[in-house]
Amino acid sequence: MNANEIREKYLKFMEERGHAVLEPAGLVPKDDPTTLFTGSGMQMLLPYLLGKAHPDGTRLTDSQPCLRAQDIEDVGDNRHTTCFEMLGNWSLGDYFKKEQIRWFWEFLTVEVGLDPERIYVTCFIGDEENEIPKDTEAAEIWKEIFEEAGVSSGVAEIGSADVGDERGMKEGERIFYYNDKENWWSRGGGIKTTPIGDPCGPDSEVFYDFGEENHDASYGKAHPASDSGRFIEIGNQVFMEYRRKEDGSFEPLKAKNVDFGGGLERIAAAAIGEADVFKTSLFTPVIEKLEEMSGRKYEGNVVSMRVIADHMKGAVWLAAQGLVPSNKEQGYVMRRLVRRAVAKALDLGIEEGLMEQMVPVVCEIYRRVLKEVTEGEAEILAVLVKEEEAFRKTLGRGLREAEKLAVNTLTVEDLVDGADLFKLQDTYGFPLELAVEMMEKLGAKLSDRWREEFEMALEKQRETSRTATKGMFKGGLEDGGEMTLKYHTVAHLVLAAMCEVLDAGVEQRGSNITAERMRFDFSWDEKLTEEQVLAIEGLVNGWIEADLPISFGEFETEVALGEMGAHGSFRDKYGETVTVYTVGEGDGVVSNEVCGGPHVERTGVLGEGGVKFKIAKQEASSAGVRRIKGILK
Ligand code: ALA
Repeated sequence: MNANEIREKYLKFMEERGHAVLEPAGLVPKDDPTTLFTGSGMQMLLPYLLGKAHPDGTRLTDSQPCLRAQDIEDVGDNRHTTCFEMLGNWSLGDYFKKEQIRWFWEFLTVEVGLDPERIYVTCFIGDEENEIPKDTEAAEIWKEIFEEAGVSSGVAEIGSADVGDERGMKEGERIFYYNDKENWWSRGGGIKTTPIGDPCGPDSEVFYDFGEENHDASYGKAHPASDSGRFIEIGNQVFMEYRRKEDGSFEPLKAKNVDFGGGLERIAAAAIGEADVFKTSLFTPVIEKLEEMSGRKYEGNVVSMRVIADHMKGAVWLAAQGLVPSNKEQGYVMRRLVRRAVAKALDLGIEEGLMEQMVPVVCEIYRRVLKEVTEGEAEILAVLVKEEEAFRKTLGRGLREAEKLAVNTLTVEDLVDGADLFKLQDTYGFPLELAVEMMEKLGAKLSDRWREEFEMALEKQRETSRTATKGMFKGGLEDGGEMTLKYHTVAHLVLAAMCEVLDAGVEQRGSNITAERMRFDFSWDEKLTEEQVLAIEGLVNGWIEADLPISFGEFETEVALGEMGAHGSFRDKYGETVTVYTVGEGDGVVSNEVCGGPHVERTGVLGEGGVKFKIAKQEASSAGVRRIKGILK
């Protein structure tokens, strides 16, 4: 069964059970300045989940295109995408757990025909502090279902996913209890990060087991919430029965709602037994076209082809909404998608006409699904072709400069410095990955520290542009520049927090900042425990709340690194004096760090809009180095 059939069946299945089929919302939410894109089906239903009567009744369903720009760097594996369709159904104070769970089970096993043996589920373990009970009701419904189906139905109380990574799952287990990080849903994530005023509740998630061969052992032992590639979440049933009050506590909503969301691409992957969403019918025409254009096979080029396929879909969807690439807000994300796709296509030897060839293929996939695509194809193509052409001109100039740089380096037997690569990117828009590859191809040697040199040049440039654009960021939505500025300050707070929570000797080993997140590498060789993660988040958020001032000054390097105890990651690069950025003042200094800036002026701005710092992900980077991804959300 292909994805179109699954979508159609699902909507019909829900319609037969009394649901009104809704037109999906646009990718840019109306009347919601807190977020750039629609990231889940429930977004347009917020007022109704809080009690307002919906004109179409108490049972609703749709298939909602979603875009999660913060996942852009994760695209390339078998399951992550920036854009996807979320199958959704809602009960507004109508049916509850029993109907929801039984229907979804029936849909998966009877309509789609998935093997019950491969389905695993999770439930909420409860939270004493907030007086939210353990969801034994959902677990018992599941137990009955599995017993009826004649498959094992063992229950495991796991708690945090980290515990699961160490413990693994045992023979016969099928129902897993986890804490709020896994089984509590709000627009802000877990219990502590649930936005004030939002509906929320425990959830029960459904995972498909794609088989041991897809388990990546670097994530620990296998269990449903491990994120290791073997178990992939295909649906989430949120039992929205609470609302977070102004004082942070939870009150029951007047009506108990169901908010279900299922990833169409992932269900489609399960339906064909392929642990790769890019092998589903929503992507195969695109992949085949890429194979034809490049003369290369998908196998052997999976990362490039996945990135292009994902980004092309995102770009087409955004163009279908009437958006155009720009340097701000949604347009900025759109520009990044197009440029990253074009740059990745170069890796495959595709040097022209990417949009011209790919846009019709993507449009064909969505022609009967999204009316904006049907109506706007000519315009979509024109907008994307224009952006590709503009980018290629920039790239062409960059290529010539890159060649010059390589030739120069070779004639004087020198090394390419990271600052040279930065200049290529900054002046000619020439992507870093591409520049590095070209240098290697042309035989020019890169300095060992090119990454650090690149970062330093980038920071320096940011300081300049910060000064130049000071005062230009008042109100409204932030553009990429302002967010990267914030994340830069967050990085300092994170290092300081780690030194308190983990060990005073923790050092930064690298960082990479985009408008969506900060990536931070540090010297540590174990997985952070949940307590450590919470403690780090807590310290950082405390400092943000305290609205500490940030200042900087020039100091003798020895003094800075000596008595001031400033952190410095590039010690052998410093001259006699360095700039030190200080967070806090007097006895309340929380961080001193050698840095070229720029930074926000007070930590309070990092919490603007009610966002909180959160460690969204952690992984091993290389020996003795761990990597976290931090977000303000
Ligand atoms: N709103 C829920 C989610 O996005 C269904 O996972």
